Amino acid sequence: MAERIYLDNASTTFPKPPCVPEAVCRYMTQEGTNVGRGDYSSAYDVEDMVFETRELLCKTLGGQDPSQVVFTRNVTEALNLVLKGFLRAGDHVVVTSMEHNAVMRPLAQLRSAGVTFTRVTCAQDGSLSPADVEATITPETRLVVTTHASNVCGTALPVGNVAKICRRHGVRYVVDCAQTAGVLDVDASGWGVDAVCFTGHKGLLGPQGIGGAVFCGDFASQVDAIVAGGTGSSSDLEQMPAFMPDALEAGTPNLPGIAGLNASLKWLRERGIDSLRTHELGLCGLLLEGLEPLEAAGHVRIVGKRSLQGRTGLVSIQTPGHELAEVAHRLDSEFGIQTRVGLHCAPSAHKTFGTFPTGTIRFSFGWANAEAEVSQAIKALKELLRS
Ligand SMILES: Cc1ncc(COP(=O)(O)O)c(C=O)c1O
Repeated sequence: MAERIYLDNASTTFPKPPCVPEAVCRYMTQEGTNVGRGDYSSAYDVEDMVFETRELLCKTLGGQDPSQVVFTRNVTEALNLVLKGFLRAGDHVVVTSMEHNAVMRPLAQLRSAGVTFTRVTCAQDGSLSPADVEATITPETRLVVTTHASNVCGTALPVGNVAKICRRHGVRYVVDCAQTAGVLDVDASGWGVDAVCFTGHKGLLGPQGIGGAVFCGDFASQVDAIVAGGTGSSSDLEQMPAFMPDALEAGTPNLPGIAGLNASLKWLRERGIDSLRTHELGLCGLLLEGLEPLEAAGHVRIVGKRSLQGRTGLVSIQTPGHELAEVAHRLDSEFGIQTRVGLHCAPSAHKTFGTFPTGTIRFSFGWANAEAEVSQAIKALKELLRS
């Protein structure tokens, strides 16, 4: 069996920087207390660590107030919180054709509660025209939700321009930063959006099971908690506290996850998100270059754009004449190359690209990948597709 080459970082990053599992282990073996519930020194230390993580998230994602950072299990739960906690019967929502099911499935559920949505179709390179968003806004539109970058083709959407349109129309705007937090520049308050939702286990290099939302301005006060329960504060009340972040956070949080995320955020700041992005886009460029002859020979179809501007470090392909699932399986079983095959939970993106229902094989790079691994992937594809 060939050595493992992990090229599925858009699904979850691996490996994590060593300081991340170390921090999780340290929390579980040495700290271990709950947050906001105990009046003893180790509980205060954990409280400080949780608050510092909110501060680090603000610095990394452009939040202005750590109390406006709400922890959830992942970006899916954060998006559910915003959509279900904010939208009411009669509301209209604008989304794009690049959205993940983390946006589309809650919206499908909300249909029965009288919420409607319009989907703006992106171009073949995955790009979005802000004017198309503006054209779909109606007097009933209360919210625009878009991904920051497609998890199928990597193209980034012009969130700053969409935010300006939303502000002009008095419509709230929430950005799904699942693919971009820790990868591209995310600047919630600079963009002028109402919230960015993030997941800890992808580009932020943290553990699975921790994510959240960074709220801006007064938006959080317009969102109802979708899970209610103990917060360790205002315990005399049977209602959720009115202040943030307790208003939207109930139950004991994933403290090992927050400890790991705390470590990964510090590591990211030390290494520099820009330099990591340059590395990952370099690998993406090498793969695109290596795929060109295969595409010219009709063995591969590259989905999305070719340029490295305004994108994340992932490449999706189809393999005309070869079963995608079989190619992905052979990449793994014969060459140790681990990719993701299928629809990547984004069916309407594939409808946009004409790759529905088979999907694509997606290669996605992380900080620990090396050029030699990209060369191996190109060599393996040549061997598999030319046979
Ligand atoms: C754009 C996008 N949104 C949402 C998600 C869901 O992430 P999670 O499973 O961490 O909630 C993903 C994960 O692949 C994604 O790529």
